[in-house]
Amino acid sequence: MSEREAVGVIGAGWVGLVTTACFAELGYEVIARDILAEKVEALSRGEVAIHEPGLAEMLRRNVERITFTTSMEELLDGARLLFTCVDTPPTYSGDADLSRVRAVVADLPADSDHVLVMKSTVPAGTGESIRRDMPGLAYVSCPEFLKEGTAVADFMHPDRVVVGADAGDEEAAEAVEALYAPLGADGEILRTDVASAEMIKLASNAFLATKISFINEIANVCEEVGADVGEVARGMGLDKRIGSSFLRAGIGYGGSCFPKDVSALKMLAGNTGYHFQLLTSVIEVNELQKRRVVGKLEKHLGSLIGKRIALLGLAFKPDTDDMREASSLVLAARLQGEGAEVVAYDPVASGRAGEMLTSVEMADSAMAALEGADAAVLVTEWAEFRDLDWSVVAATMANPLVVDGRNFLDPAVLATAGFEYEGIGRQPRPAPTQVY
Ligand code: UDX
Repeated sequence: MSEREAVGVIGAGWVGLVTTACFAELGYEVIARDILAEKVEALSRGEVAIHEPGLAEMLRRNVERITFTTSMEELLDGARLLFTCVDTPPTYSGDADLSRVRAVVADLPADSDHVLVMKSTVPAGTGESIRRDMPGLAYVSCPEFLKEGTAVADFMHPDRVVVGADAGDEEAAEAVEALYAPLGADGEILRTDVASAEMIKLASNAFLATKISFINEIANVCEEVGADVGEVARGMGLDKRIGSSFLRAGIGYGGSCFPKDVSALKMLAGNTGYHFQLLTSVIEVNELQKRRVVGKLEKHLGSLIGKRIALLGLAFKPDTDDMREASSLVLAARLQGEGAEVVAYDPVASGRAGEMLTSVEMADSAMAALEGADAAVLVTEWAEFRDLDWSVVAATMANPLVVDGRNFLDPAVLATAGFEYEGIGRQPRPAPTQVY
């Protein structure tokens, strides 16, 4: 098989489009198929609705190598390796909803030369069950490890590429590996069986989420003992066995992956009869972090009934308009439950958030949200919030109080501007030196 064989992509969502753009950038012909005619037409006109740095430019630069289509036939005719990038959202019970994956499989010919390459995050065991249903189809698990906001760079410079295949599908796995060869040393490839590849994805996300919940609990203890979690995380991170990433304390993780994958792994384990105790706590701590924000507000304001609280930021992290499982959703509901009036501003996600948070007042700017507010809660660390003139903000608010849910603002700047400042595990004063 030629090193330059065409790549098929099923599902032109965020993962599918990044995969399309990056494989085209590596020089491959890419055929991307989506069931939504409107989306395919827009993409064919060069319109990209997703906010992902560098993606639209990369798609445009490689337009000659990319075909968008709604036709499964065109896809099957043009490509052998079919990267399945449909979403697997959580069900109410926390399991992954595999209906879109199942719909893709149902569309594929039972006996074919094609290779189903699973990029979507699926519970361990999914590959095995698809192989049972479709014995003629070669199956490779190749999970994605892309972060929103840096997805293009993550694809082009991955820490690793995982290629999982079972006996009989070795040639298919080699063909997938060959696609990544142009990444050179940037793309170390790990070959495993399918179940292990599936577990690597779930375990990686669950471990990162565990790191976050761990540092959040350390932050809570820091508050009690007069330590500063930023210093503690720095000191911990210098130990190479621990590493410095994913140790930023705050109001917890959100997004389309962590909450979903952590509960999917917990459910998956539960379905086998194994109770994943640690992940139960990871999830609980993530929920409790939002409650602590409410507690911090109450500490300063007493009852929140009738108090106007400004949320700065709504997206689950900066540089995205993604509201999926955003901490702001939980926080807004909790504040409203306590009787507060909630006003919010996000530089990018306000529109999308407005549809989800119908009882929250959406402001056009940070200043408009802060005007007359009894407190501000920084939810998403957008750079523009750091650049606000906080002395002017203090004058416009009814009460100068900031709860910094991301430890993003400079407490000294806020104090000079006349604010009461609450971070997460941060000390408002220098940590005392203990002599033993
Ligand atoms: C994540 C994984 O990083 C990626 O490998 C996977 O494929 C998809 O899920 P993403 O959801 O884009 O990527 O976001 P990420 O940057 O990992 O952040 C997730 C959440 O954790 C955010 O809400 C972020 O604010 C929070 N976070 C992250 C912390 O609270 N503290 C940290 O130290 C790091």
